[in-house]
Amino acid sequence: MLEENETTFEEFYLQLEAKLKGVVPHIEIKYKAELAWKINKLKKDKNAVILGHNYMEPALYHSITDYVGDSLELSREAAKTENDIIVFCGVKFMAETAKILNPEKTVLLPSEKAGCSLAESITAADVRNLKKKFPGVPVVTYVNTYADVKAESDICCTSGNAAAVVNSLQTDTVIFLPDEYLAKNVARETGKHIIFPSNKNGNGTDVDFQMIGWHGKCEVHEKFTVEDIENVRKQFPDVVILAHPECSPEVVEASDFSGSTSAMTKYVEETSLNRYLLLTECSMGDNIAAANRGKEMLRLCSVRCPHMNEITLEDTLKALELNQYVIEIPESIRVRAAIAVERMLTIG
Ligand code: 13P
Ligand code: SF4
Repeated sequence: MLEENETTFEEFYLQLEAKLKGVVPHIEIKYKAELAWKINKLKKDKNAVILGHNYMEPALYHSITDYVGDSLELSREAAKTENDIIVFCGVKFMAETAKILNPEKTVLLPSEKAGCSLAESITAADVRNLKKKFPGVPVVTYVNTYADVKAESDICCTSGNAAAVVNSLQTDTVIFLPDEYLAKNVARETGKHIIFPSNKNGNGTDVDFQMIGWHGKCEVHEKFTVEDIENVRKQFPDVVILAHPECSPEVVEASDFSGSTSAMTKYVEETSLNRYLLLTECSMGDNIAAANRGKEMLRLCSVRCPHMNEITLEDTLKALELNQYVIEIPESIRVRAAIAVERMLTIG
């Protein structure tokens, strides 16, 4: 991120302009630099740290964040921060994870509307019902869930360590919630069979299963199809296609690489190929393009996560000015959720 420390506003603006040239319309850069300058000053005055998910829009991502990364990396940063305030430029389940790990600190989420279709897909009561149906089977929940769901779980995982978490349990069977596609991708990677107990064919007693899933889907990643891949490959035969594991197993299989948002970023940074297509939230393509001039990032750019899109520089400034929106989790839930999150942090 760009430091405003010993620089003047003009220098800060010119650095940001150089970074965002061709990625953010020129006319917006000055306005965004002014907001970012104010945020960076306030952040220092209030001893706050700003954690930014890889899906943040490029001006925000490159101007105010102290740490950027995928869910796992940001959880790790949240666990070790010494600042009084954590401003989470991401979605609610991420800010909640930071609070779960830092009960004494103030955690702010700049927009109350930054949810997630996966987190909305399952409730704590759903998990309790599954545990009744499959007693003794360990529950792995994707970190894209709310705190009360995490509290019902044995261990969390992210896209960065899901297979490692499942393998770490050393049991024949696991309940893996709530992302259907991630579960199928992990089942394939770990060689396990999977059932979905609310399907009419999956009553959980008459099939050979080792993973029990749920029907949550990411509203962004479910949009990508094998046909998209075929069309792009026809037009650009040399393209390298990277897919997030929240995409369907068919899409993941037809791609060249699959991994967490940071694993995909690293893949582009560490390979020297001409052209890449990311099957994920499209701001991330902009962020990688800004940091890797000379590598062409193709985008299917209708695909923006509406929840991540809620987090703006304007709202981040307001969050620091007004101390909003404070993440609160009842202590009885937080303590149980912390066990599942802390277990996850010991793996992968
Ligand atoms: P990562 O953990 O890979 O950053 O994914 C988070 C997410 O919400 C992807 O849609
Ligand atoms: Fe949730 Fe999908 Fe948005 Fe990620 S991209 S925050 S999984 S809705």
